[in-house]
Amino acid sequence: PPAGDGKPERLADLAGRIAACTRCGLCAGRRNPVPGEGDPDTRILFIGEAPGADEDQQGRPFVGAAGQLLERMILAMGFRREQVFIANVLKCRPPGNRTPEPGEVAACLPWLEHQVAVIAPAVICTLGNTPLKALRPEAAGITRERGRRFLWRDIPVIPTFHPSYLLRNEAAKKPCWEDLKLVLAELGLTPPRRGS
Ligand code: URA
Repeated sequence: PPAGDGKPERLADLAGRIAACTRCGLCAGRRNPVPGEGDPDTRILFIGEAPGADEDQQGRPFVGAAGQLLERMILAMGFRREQVFIANVLKCRPPGNRTPEPGEVAACLPWLEHQVAVIAPAVICTLGNTPLKALRPEAAGITRERGRRFLWRDIPVIPTFHPSYLLRNEAAKKPCWEDLKLVLAELGLTPPRRGS
């Protein structure tokens, strides 16, 4: 990855502006904003829904139970967590982990748009309904749309299930793996053999 491309500084600047954001009511209840983290020069961006309790406490995305599964998914793809970028649609925790409201998504989406413009990933993998609908409002639900590639800001997007859903629905792991292979295919890659 090229050093000196300014991406780390630009992402840090965004994180600082996110920390000062009061565009929606969620800022009142947050302990920490969760801008996202990872390799600024990555080719893969994962987008989840919103911080949960663990993420709100630590200020880092996907550090709870769903995050452990997401990390296993990333490892199975042949990457380490630090080699991709992980963000959410919402940067602040909704109370009680309720589903984000449309007004909150609309208020927060510009931050994600800025992040995507800086990172310029080669492929985006959305996790669950919220990021799918945020990028593609006309989409049907994730059960119908998973694995169906579309373009957003000229970047290919592969929607798949949210890891929290996979934790409750073991049978969804197999189709999710098919989707993750589509993500790799966008990079001209196939999964590494198990154990390697
Ligand atoms: N679920 C999400 O969608 N995002 C997180 O950061 C954690 C759990």
